Amino acid sequence: MSTFEDYVATFDNESGYLNWAAFGPLSPSVRAEVFADADLLGSGRPSSLSLVRERVGQAQELVGELLGAEAADVTLQPSSTQGLMHAFYGLSGTVIASAAEFPSVSLTLDRAAAASNRALTPRWVTPADGRMTPDAVAGALDDEVTALVVSHVDFRTGFRADLAALRELIGPDRLLIVDAVQSFGVVDEDYTAADIVVGHGYKWLRAGRGSAFAWFAPRARERIVPVLSGIAGTRALSIDELQVPTASAQAFTVSQPDTLAAGRLAIGVRDVRDAGVAHIEGRIAEHVDTILEIADRHAIAVSSPREHASRAGIVALSPEEPARLAAALANAGVVVTARGSAVRVAAHAGTDDATLQQLDDALGAFGNETFINA
Ligand SMILES: Cc1ncc(COP(=O)(O)O)c(C=O)c1O
Repeated sequence: MSTFEDYVATFDNESGYLNWAAFGPLSPSVRAEVFADADLLGSGRPSSLSLVRERVGQAQELVGELLGAEAADVTLQPSSTQGLMHAFYGLSGTVIASAAEFPSVSLTLDRAAAASNRALTPRWVTPADGRMTPDAVAGALDDEVTALVVSHVDFRTGFRADLAALRELIGPDRLLIVDAVQSFGVVDEDYTAADIVVGHGYKWLRAGRGSAFAWFAPRARERIVPVLSGIAGTRALSIDELQVPTASAQAFTVSQPDTLAAGRLAIGVRDVRDAGVAHIEGRIAEHVDTILEIADRHAIAVSSPREHASRAGIVALSPEEPARLAAALANAGVVVTARGSAVRVAAHAGTDDATLQQLDDALGAFGNETFINA
């Protein structure tokens, strides 16, 4: 069996799970790591404690490897939102963002601007279809703009932004800040087009909460002040002197990382690296094709992109009666996210045929029910 097929075989969650864009049930290897590391931490033996502490460096190395970045420039964070806080609170100038971003971007940017004494100004863009294309950004670009922040894959529309094209548009002197929560580990991307990338382990990496990261390229650190820097952001902990933030990316951290979370992140990233991110992306694309075909066959409108290059693992269904569809799926044991007018369906590489059949059957029954009630 190939390593990719080994990886696919590790998906042991219950059938019907199509909510990977919200939460990824923990993989067997991550679960095993938690137990092993917890046992080591329970011993109190200094060698065991330092063994678990090594997970921090391992996680930095592995995230760096997938990003094409230096491990030392990768910080571990409790959440991707906290990674974005470090970026926004130290930023000045005008920052372009979509008003429809996940609140980790929009709300955090708004809060940072409010605290900045007018040094930071968000410039909200509202593309009609919610897609942050170069055209949508170009209209908002002027000399005041110092940065663009964008989700690589939008949590709502599933649209995958073209990072290389956005970089080309904004040029080398503005920062490109990327929220890769919905793509890291499952989209084979050249992240070095960005200056800052945040992500986390609790969805597509199947590594649980608390396992986030933020990468600060050297050119980002030249332009962002480590305002929220804490005791882990200094060169060495000193209890009698107040230290300035270190010159490294670690300045963008607050306190020592959770070593159990670092271990989970390291294993989650190692697993996708070993399976091959391109293979994972390819299998997810096949599942998305199947989901689109199922939706079309049952005449359920799809609002997410259909072209491979503009999508990843999220399919947004926009039925006429979203609440009723959400209820029908829940009753059929199909787990999705229902929000407003859309029902978000997200398959992973290990999603099995039975799950897609469950979706098909539930949408079929939903259609018949409409017919009977009409
Ligand atoms: C695009 C995006 N960014 C950020 C987050 C939140 O990340 P965290 O919980 O690590 O702050 C989510 C959660 O769904 C998301 O979809």
